[in-house]
Amino acid sequence: MIVCHCQNITDHDIHAAINWMRASDAQTIVTPGKLYRALGKAADCGGCMPLFLATMRTNTNMEVPMQLRNLRRGTTQETRNERRQESN
Ligand code: FES
Repeated sequence: MIVCHCQNITDHDIHAAINWMRASDAQTIVTPGKLYRALGKAADCGGCMPLFLATMRTNTNMEVPMQLRNLRRGTTQETRNERRQESN
């Protein structure tokens, strides 16, 4: 099935690119931009993004690597501490 009509990208292309990226670097964060680059193409109109993302989510290799989970929580706690007022 064609997902991106501007660049003629199929769901098979997307899955193959995700699997290739995971095989070459297990810790990489897979984004639509990286997939376009891996396929040697660039998004044009962006109208395919909802279907593009939905297709990405169906791939079993799309899980965030365990080492990279919960990183946002640590950042939020640091931000809170930086804004804390010191009492005298
Ligand atoms: S349909 Fe994918 S960029 Fe236009």
